[in-house]
Formats: sequence, C-alpha cells, structure tokens
Amino acid sequence: MNPTRACTLFSLLTLPLSALAQNQDSTQRAAFQAAQAVIRQKSADDHKQMMQQLGITSLRPGPSGNPKAPNAANADESKATTYTSLPDPLILKNGKPVTSARQWWRQRRPEIVDDFDREVYGRMPHNLPAVAWKVVSETREMNGDMPVITKRLVGQVDNSSYSAVTLAIELILSTPAGASSPVPVMLNFGFRFPASFRPPAPPTSTTAPAEPTWQQQLLAKGWGYAILYPTSVQADNGAGLREGIIGLANKGQHRKSDDWGTLRAWAWGASRAIDYFESDKTVDAKRVGIEGLSRYGKAALVAMAYEPRFAIGFIGSSGAGGAKLHRRTFGEQTENVAGSGEYHWMAGNYIKYAGPLTPNDLPVDAHELVALCAPRPVFISAGSATVEGTWIDAKGMFLGGVHAGPVYRLLGKKDLGTSEFPPMETTLVDGDIAFRQHAGGHTTGPNWPTFLRFAERYMGHHR
Ligand code: GCU
Repeated sequence: MNPTRACTLFSLLTLPLSALAQNQDSTQRAAFQAAQAVIRQKSADDHKQMMQQLGITSLRPGPSGNPKAPNAANADESKATTYTSLPDPLILKNGKPVTSARQWWRQRRPEIVDDFDREVYGRMPHNLPAVAWKVVSETREMNGDMPVITKRLVGQVDNSSYSAVTLAIELILSTPAGASSPVPVMLNFGFRFPASFRPPAPPTSTTAPAEPTWQQQLLAKGWGYAILYPTSVQADNGAGLREGIIGLANKGQHRKSDDWGTLRAWAWGASRAIDYFESDKTVDAKRVGIEGLSRYGKAALVAMAYEPRFAIGFIGSSGAGGAKLHRRTFGEQTENVAGSGEYHWMAGNYIKYAGPLTPNDLPVDAHELVALCAPRPVFISAGSATVEGTWIDAKGMFLGGVHAGPVYRLLGKKDLGTSEFPPMETTLVDGDIAFRQHAGGHTTGPNWPTFLRFAERYMGHHR
C-alpha cells in the first residue's frame, strides 16, 4: 500500500464515523449513523456496568488524537519517559533473579502470563466450543502472474451450549498452485468495512509500474497467504460483548472483570485457523506467521504471545495495548484504551489503571508481552511520525522490543542489537527481535520486503 492509500486507511479507522459515513449515499448514511449511535450507547452501558463491578465512579479522560486540540496527546520526547517502574521480566515476584531458561519457562513466564490474564487482556475460558471448518469454495485463479488455489472457508462454532449466539468464522486461504510440498503461510487479520461503504479509489499513476502486493511478494517466495476476519469471531465494540465467542462462552452474561477481551477473542480465532491449517495438506502448519495492523497489530502480538504454534509475528503499528509501553507518556494513553470506545479490547480490570490506579501500577508492561513470544522471531513495524502521526508511538513500540531483549538472550537468541531509537528507515533485522519504521503511513505495506528478508531466515524460500 502506498503512503497516500495508507493514510486513507488510517483516516477510515480513526476519523469519527460520521466522516466515514460521508462516502455513502444519504439513506445508507442515515441508517449507518443510527446503527452506530445504538452501538455507542450499548457500549457505554456495558462500560458503565464494568465500572460498577470494579467499584469505580470516574476515570481520567485520555488525551486527544488531534494534534491541534488543547488536550492533544504528548508528542514531546522529553516528557515521554518519566516512569521509573518498568517491571523486570527476569525478576521473579519473590524478588529473586531468573538465572536459567528452565526457570523462565517454569516460574517467571507463568507469572507474567497470569498478570496479563488478570489485569490486561483477560482470561480465556476453559472448554471453549469446537469449530468445524468447511471449505465453501475452491477456485484456481491468478494473482498477478502467479496461479493460486483459493479456498473460502467457514468455521462453524458449536453453539449447543447457548443457541442464542450463532457464529461462523470467515477465513480465506490462497496457496501457490502446483506447489510440490506444503508451503509456509502468513495469516493476516483482515479489515472489513460496512457493506454499503465505498472506499475512495487509490490514486493511480500512469508512469510507475504497480508494486507487487504483499500477497504477490509472498507468492514470489513460494509461500501462501490467508486472511481471517476478526469481526466474524467477535465484534469490535463493547456492545457486542454478550455476543460473539465471548458471549457464546459466557451464555450472554456480562463479563467478569478478569474475563477475556476482544483482542484475546480475535487471537483465539487465529488459533482455530491454525487448527484448520494442520488439516490442510497444502500448508506447512509449522511455518505459519501472523500479521496485523493497528488494533489487529495488537491482536497479532497477543496471538503470537499466547499461541506457540505461530512461528513468526509481523506486528504493525500496534501502539497502546500492543508493543508500545503502557508507561510511556506519548501518543495514545491507557486512559484512551480504558474508555468506552476501546475497553472491550481488554479485560475489565484494565480500566482500573485509568483511575484510581495509573499505568505505573500495572504489574506488567508491553515489553513482557513481546518477551512471551521468545524465542520465536518478532518484527515490530511502525510508520513515519509525520505521515502516520505520533498517536501510535513508534519509539514506545521500539522500547517494547528493546526491553524484551534480556529474555531472548537468556533463551540463547539475539536482541534488537541497540537501545538507541534509530533514524527512520533504519533496518534492524540482525537479531530475533526486529524493528523498522518505514516512511509511509498507517500500514505495514512498505515494511513487507524487509519483513520477508527477516522471515526467510526462519521460514526458508520455498520452491
Ligand atoms: C485508534 C485507536 C488505536 C488503534 C487504531 C486502529 O486510533 O486509538 O489504539 O490502534 O484506532 O486500530 O486503527
């Protein structure tokens, strides 16, 4: 995706929904806005219900994402790292240092997982329903000059425990036609806009040849690609928390304060996609990577941290709730994520850190989420501060990678190689944690070639 197109996508995701609605005709716009208002109200009600459970009556408001607003989020690096409380991933709760890999796996890692489960992303219920995958269609088609086999799949979730919720997970898989053995696959969390919405056409150039898409870049390496639609697993709002997989598992009740949020639900969907890949002979399920952008970048990192079968992660502009340190006062803040528009991504307990507690009270921080991926390779991707903006906090995500380094080293792997935030477009791919800030906007697009160079070391060129 080129920077202008990427910028358009970011606008779609972050602009008020009324702006999004302008690309629809007036009847559709009215219906869309009415539906959005209902969702906002129901989300606010559920958020309030969770605050009551937590015994909280007020929260600190988050800063504005509009750089011109009087309460704009901080974009001044000198005010960003005032914290002194970053948890050490290699100090046990009893204060003793972790000195061996065995101790990491046996003691420290479970401690960190438990903190993330309880306070940040929520606990996934036991005994979740089975998913029956069905290939709905299988077609041979061309992607550029490469023939592929594309399967459209539906994962029917068993709802015999609570039939009020019906769920069908949507997945598309394309693999190179005629591959002689199972291929590596990158799984992308796919955005889906309202059916009636017509995205603006990307700018066309008559001189420059079209760049290969990320899918075509994968095919050129002999790999396949898949897209999972997260909103077919769980809606992207608080109004939907009593539906989707969270509502199905919960039989339509409100969440408890440590129940899972939407990021973990989306990650659960990605795990079910791996289950399918394990049954598909065209896919090498030991070489499946996960990629996502923004809210789906957060979900991709959560999936990578919790699902050991993911071999590699490409984490795009994940920001707050992703790879960016919660403790950094720069760009989006915990107070924003804890608000009624985003709290559903997290456990209810996370709201506490926007009042009465502060992000400094969190028992864990984002570097420990990256550390949960160790020893597997992770690529942290950001866009340029001028084109993408500072909301996502590129340096905060870089530091998430830096401070995961000691865990990678303990496990015999290589860290990022530096703790100095590098100039834009510097490629840091020599370690098992990689980072690059590209010159474009809110997209992983310009980082795909670099990611693939990094990934090839682990996944191989497939022919
Ligand atoms: C908002 C939100 C971010 C999120 C982004 C997106 O900007 O504040 O946390 O990453 O939307 O998903 O596009």
